[in-house]
Amino acid sequence: MLLSIRSTRGSDISIDRRGMRASAMALLLALLGFLLVAGDGQMLYKDSRQSIEARIKDLLRRMTLEEKIGQMTQIERAVASQAVVRQYGIGSVLNGGGSAPAERAAPNVWEDMVDDYQIGAMSTRLGIPVIYGVDAVHGHNNVYGATIYPHNIGLGSSRYLLILSPSIFFLPFWYEKFLGLFLRDPELVRRIGAATALEVRATGMPYAFAPCIAVCRDPRWGRCYESYGEDTQLVRSMTKIIQGLQGSPPPSHPSGYPYVGGPSKVVACAKHFVGDGGTVKGIDENNTVTTYRQLVQVHMGPYLDAIAMGVSTIMISYSSFNGIKMHANRFLVTEVLKNRLGFQGFLISDWEAIDRITDPPKQNYTYSVLTSVNAGIDMIMVPFDYQNFINILTGLVKSGAVSQSRIDDAVTRILRVKFAAGLFEAPKANRKLNNKVGAEDHRELAREAVRKSLVLLKNSARSGSSKNILPLSKTAPKILVAGTHADDLGLQCGGWTITWQGGSGQTTIGTTIRQAIANTVSQSTQVVYEQSPDANFVKDKGFSYAVVVIGEQPYAEIAGDNLNLTIPSQGIDTIRNVCSSLRCAVVLISGRPLVLEPHIDMMDALVAAWLPGSEGQGVADVLFGDHDFVGKSSRTWFKRVDQLPMNVGDMGYDPLFPYGFGMTMRQQ
Ligand code: BGC
Ligand code: BGC
Repeated sequence: MLLSIRSTRGSDISIDRRGMRASAMALLLALLGFLLVAGDGQMLYKDSRQSIEARIKDLLRRMTLEEKIGQMTQIERAVASQAVVRQYGIGSVLNGGGSAPAERAAPNVWEDMVDDYQIGAMSTRLGIPVIYGVDAVHGHNNVYGATIYPHNIGLGSSRYLLILSPSIFFLPFWYEKFLGLFLRDPELVRRIGAATALEVRATGMPYAFAPCIAVCRDPRWGRCYESYGEDTQLVRSMTKIIQGLQGSPPPSHPSGYPYVGGPSKVVACAKHFVGDGGTVKGIDENNTVTTYRQLVQVHMGPYLDAIAMGVSTIMISYSSFNGIKMHANRFLVTEVLKNRLGFQGFLISDWEAIDRITDPPKQNYTYSVLTSVNAGIDMIMVPFDYQNFINILTGLVKSGAVSQSRIDDAVTRILRVKFAAGLFEAPKANRKLNNKVGAEDHRELAREAVRKSLVLLKNSARSGSSKNILPLSKTAPKILVAGTHADDLGLQCGGWTITWQGGSGQTTIGTTIRQAIANTVSQSTQVVYEQSPDANFVKDKGFSYAVVVIGEQPYAEIAGDNLNLTIPSQGIDTIRNVCSSLRCAVVLISGRPLVLEPHIDMMDALVAAWLPGSEGQGVADVLFGDHDFVGKSSRTWFKRVDQLPMNVGDMGYDPLFPYGFGMTMRQQ
């Protein structure tokens, strides 16, 4: 009884206690709620009506060191997953050249992959979106079926179209001689940037590692084709592509502040800061030996324009300036780029570039992390060994070797770009854009770019004929198309196409030059294609003329470094076999000028087509006279490699064809 009473009382008491606990809890919750509203500003960073700077401030103070270092880490998709992104709070994922979720992956497969990382990021404590980056350097080139534009060397040769038809004869000679040099076509690259942005977004990606604004001063460099040309002013005008990729900021937009004009635009990346195109003998990732004044005059200008347009990110160059690795160069990276030029976006390292601060690479990774982060680099393209990177950087901050304020500067910049890109509001792919990949109007634009980038180096009346061979006749009864590059989409696209180094054959969707020729000639014209005809194949077969398309094999980066710059011998053989008995127009597919003497004497016409990309129809449009040539060489055409480096304006300039050279079909 007593027990029961006790128990009853006891239970009464316990009810009372529970009640008391409940009300205390309610009070606490109310207090907490009050605190959240008053003190924490209702997760202000999630409120898109707030200014970007206010959102950054709010978010940054909530972040732990671990979360901050996660933001500074960029990893490769091969090691990325939803779980990894969540666990480490990874700030960015990329795919390197040729790295893809599946062979010939469709746009939605890419989107699923990127969204998956985003789900990981959104499920972290603070839900900071990941930013996915890709090398979209001549269109969205890693993606099967995307439009592939000419590489930059070709775009740098494109000129504004004043004259479209070879039948217009009234333009004075000085137009081609002088004015043509200045009538660059930045509007064309702006449109290409906009179309590329759409295709990149159409695979769920908000960030392109483009444009390369290197001023290539030596064509022996394997990346020369990624450069718009040898002249600083030319490259400066081509930075307009940034306005296509990111959109054009309003006049009130502050210089240096990242700008992304909405969900069909992407974050761009000017690369590689600075002097990448000025290394000794054009050796990739090597040393640019020059005065500071020359470095600024030749290589820095394009960065001024990029920063003025609100470029959101800048990639640091593998190369060194007077022996100091750019990735360790605090003066140029922090003092010049951030402080003097006022760049407020984020700086990203190149791929494993901090490893290469030491020789051999990664000999002292702690030193690499320390010097690169203290130099001022904000995001590190690790891209594989991220746990190591995170541990080391964490240790360096805890020991005080890297300051908390350096970390905060890096994260502030990364968040600024993420807010500017609207990633917090729309982190996922916009699947309505899927049909933009390889869209018809983009292919038309690429075709126009091909037409405008072709440079006519020679057009003559050889072997007794009274007429120049170009424009080619559409109605000839029988013609020969020959050469390694005549019917090969992969070769005409070059490196950075589907794979890092590029490849040969039907690597993606597009039109080869042979197909384009067949599309262009009359129905009664028989087009015979033979890749490598011998001399007998050509003789007495009733061919009216031949088109020979030859050139370099694809390459990227260091694999493209070349001290000889000769036309591969198979191409020379074909020129000899064909041109010795037929009138021939030669189309050269190459990432740079190559040695032409003495072979040029065998040709009736020679066209530098650079690396035209997927729309080979643009080549036929001009060869057959539907459009005239307008391109002016973005490069000095040297005679011999022992003249290199040789650039316009040099003392003793003695080129085969000068910078800016390019004929029309009306010229002799
Ligand atoms: C290249 C960069 C490129 C990066 C990511 C590096 O090797 O130098 O231009 O953006 O790889 O693929
Ligand atoms: C990647 C490229 C990268 C290169 C750098 C390759 O494996 O695919 O994107 O630029 O490595 O060395």
